[in-house]
Amino acid sequence: MTDFDQIEQQLVERVRSSKEPQSVLRAPELKALYAQIRTADDKAAFGAAVNQLKQRIEAAIAERQSDTLAAARTPIDVTAPMDVNARIPDTLPAYRGSRHPISQEIARLSDIFGRMGYAVEDSREIDDQFHMFESLNFPKGHPARDDYDTFMTVEHDADGDPLIAPAHTSTMQYRILKKYRSQLDRGEAIAAIVPDRVFRNEDLDARHEHTFYQVEGVYVAEGVHAGMLIATLQEFLQEYYAQTLDVRVNPFYFPFTEPSFEFALSCPFCKGTDSTCKVCSGEGWVELLGCGMIHPNVLKIADIDPAVYTGFAFGCGIDRLVMMKHQIEDIRHFESAKLDFLRQF
Ligand code: PHE
Repeated sequence: MTDFDQIEQQLVERVRSSKEPQSVLRAPELKALYAQIRTADDKAAFGAAVNQLKQRIEAAIAERQSDTLAAARTPIDVTAPMDVNARIPDTLPAYRGSRHPISQEIARLSDIFGRMGYAVEDSREIDDQFHMFESLNFPKGHPARDDYDTFMTVEHDADGDPLIAPAHTSTMQYRILKKYRSQLDRGEAIAAIVPDRVFRNEDLDARHEHTFYQVEGVYVAEGVHAGMLIATLQEFLQEYYAQTLDVRVNPFYFPFTEPSFEFALSCPFCKGTDSTCKVCSGEGWVELLGCGMIHPNVLKIADIDPAVYTGFAFGCGIDRLVMMKHQIEDIRHFESAKLDFLRQF
């Protein structure tokens, strides 16, 4: 009995390992089988079996050839200096991140104030009660201290008071006055802004966040008056929103400015023409910041004679500015680290 299976196995094996698989069709084993057809008992059946065997060898040869072809395939028409066998570009990440909207806007407002002659300073993330309160004319036990929902640490400062996470950028007023004090003697103004992060232990909602940003401004020279404060803020806001805006000041109270004001601007979106406007709640005005003329006591603590020099200060919420600019409806997006939100900027 001829063992077709065994012969097939041997020949297919040879096709797989041979450098010239085609030559297996001329193998002596195959020739011998063809020779046997003539003498077989059932010539037709034997012949058909030999034929089937040959077809399977041919199939194995075809498979082997297509494998070798694929392995050897090289670009023929490529002229550009690149490797077309490299990874498909689509699989590389196309998104490399973006700057946080608050960072972008801090850069913009620093640039505007920079062009108006202001130096830019950083605040701190931990400070003491002297800079948060005493230097700003809030003596110990002053009731207005409670207006600032200040986070306290378990560590204490040199006076035995808990350290704090600054609840406003006004903690930098004293340091600015001290640092630039000598400019007054040279007949120059003290002019600096502090755009930085502040913290308040507040109930959170769409308009209140425990961590947010303010820009403090301090300007001191001879003969500075409230008109200059209002003009400076109006000029800044018009440049920031790139349009003409009306401003409004109402009397207010801060221990460190006298007089103090609450400063509002005409709604940059509806200008008071839309009673359903989400930005100004249809009022036409947006309360934006606190400001005023620096209290004589604050100047005195920093060694500046209030009989000679006067100045103004303001503290503006940056998140608010940016929310209005981009029509962002919830302040909590900023600290949320949500990529869907951040990718829009
Ligand atoms: N620090 C005040 C606040 O956060 C704002 C302010 C700054 C007011 C400077 C007057 C002068 O409420």
